[in-house]
Amino acid sequence: MDFHVLTLFPEMITESMKISITGRAIESGALTVNAVNIRDFAFNKHNKVDDYPFGGGAGMLMQAEPVYLAWESVQKTLEKPVRTIFLTPQGETFTQKKARELASEDALIFLCGHYEGIDERVLEEIVTDPISIGDYVLTGGELPALVVMDAVSRMVPGVLGNEESGETESFSAGLLEYPQYTRPQVWHGKEVPEVLLSGHHGNVDAWRREQSILRTLKSRPDLLPSSDLTNKEWAFVRALKKQWKEERAEEKKKDTLKKAEGCSAAADTASTKEDRS
Ligand code: ADE
Repeated sequence: MDFHVLTLFPEMITESMKISITGRAIESGALTVNAVNIRDFAFNKHNKVDDYPFGGGAGMLMQAEPVYLAWESVQKTLEKPVRTIFLTPQGETFTQKKARELASEDALIFLCGHYEGIDERVLEEIVTDPISIGDYVLTGGELPALVVMDAVSRMVPGVLGNEESGETESFSAGLLEYPQYTRPQVWHGKEVPEVLLSGHHGNVDAWRREQSILRTLKSRPDLLPSSDLTNKEWAFVRALKKQWKEERAEEKKKDTLKKAEGCSAAADTASTKEDRS
């Protein structure tokens, strides 16, 4: 996979990608990272790439021409049109599904904005995939580009040492990952679940699957409808929901009772005080 990144801060991209798994993948040739400085395509003697927005408003905008020239300098070295990802809070929210889809490409171009944004006209001409990494606003597109490249990289063959882990982790079956434990067997008085020490692979797999379902139901129930649950597992989910609902009702009952007891104790104290006076 060849990543080309159009940015005002190329070191932010190259230095981050050199670290750990992506760094090893660059060394092995499974990944290449080409960070292109948009400022090198400025067309004025001050190397300025931003200007005031027409119509007024806060901040500066990146101009269309340097962005276009930077993009063109990359695209013309490639054999075919390559998908151009623009990192923006207005884009489609990034998901594991999108990471898998992008990982099937041979090359990708990322466009990182700064200041208040980029002139719309160049975006219309070059962007194929506007992507957001979540509903919050960052100062630039470099961190989101690194997020997307990281998630895409681990789906590229040869990047992860262990081919299996790309598939078994969170989201691959639409479920969150089960809890994991390593040595020591007891830490802060907490024991590793017995089943993981049993050496019985069938039981371990069943326990992990159940834990994945439990975690997803607790933290991200919205993921369940598009997961790969069997009918039996759906029945398990329904039973759990019912059980939790009953437990909550029981808690509420206890709370109400406690409050009522507190009120009557306070009323008793008040009437005793009144009797004395
Ligand atoms: N640029 C600024 N904020 C962003 C976000 N949340 N996602 C993608 N790109 C961005």
